[in-house]
Amino acid sequence: MRECEHAGVSEGSGSRMVAGRIEYGDTGLTEDQLATTWLEQFRRWFDDAVQAGIPEPNAVVLATVGADSMPAARLVLMKSYGEAGIVVFTNGDSAKGRELAANPYAALVFPWHSLHRQVRLSGPVEGVDEAVSDAYFASRPYGARIAARVSRQSEVISGRTELEADWAAQARAYPEGGEVPRPAGWQGYRVRPESVEFWAGRQNRLHDRLRFRRTEDGWVTERLAP
Ligand SMILES: Cc1cc2nc3c(=O)[nH]c(=O)nc-3n(C[C@H](O)[C@H](O)[C@H](O)COP(=O)(O)O)c2cc1C
Repeated sequence: MRECEHAGVSEGSGSRMVAGRIEYGDTGLTEDQLATTWLEQFRRWFDDAVQAGIPEPNAVVLATVGADSMPAARLVLMKSYGEAGIVVFTNGDSAKGRELAANPYAALVFPWHSLHRQVRLSGPVEGVDEAVSDAYFASRPYGARIAARVSRQSEVISGRTELEADWAAQARAYPEGGEVPRPAGWQGYRVRPESVEFWAGRQNRLHDRLRFRRTEDGWVTERLAP
């Protein structure tokens, strides 16, 4: 880190201050450089993240809010993106699956901060076609397909032994080389963005924030204060 600041804040006994803050370069993102659609801008930045060698550039924070109004966030992997939105896969019986069933809206954050960039999207969520979930499930490595059958994702379990015994039982039931059925509920979800913000770090904290926002008359672009 090129510049560290120590703020005089403490949360009391046992708390630890975290120092570290960098001065961002000045490449930024201006209106002139912005693509005409969120999708094209996203494609450019995603390609840059891949080119830059960011590990798992498709890892994205997925935030949901369930019936209890408590927000929850976790990393998942984006598996495709396009005009209709961003697709991720998970277990519909997991905590996030239940939250999406109760409240089918989500926010996504791509944390490409090593490039001094962040992309935020939010909007309603829908399940993808069964055929799409089947095709993606079939493309996963054998171990991952078995794991999806084992995982009662988000449930409290007795220990690792239970997990490994379940995995072995599923592997015996569905030997390698044969078909492994997609478990009920394991599926793709598409976030259909209504807002997509591209954030680029600039000097003196005068960062660029350019947002595409869907309106009744189509998409508008606007600049947000940093
Ligand atoms: C880099 C990374 C990628 C992940 N990708 C997925 C994913 O694509 N789908 C998924 O269900 N969980 C994925 N996970 C695990 C989730 O973060 C989370 O632990 C799990 O889905 C349970 O979340 P929930 O209890 O909020 O439903 C990933 C975790 C990491 C660290």
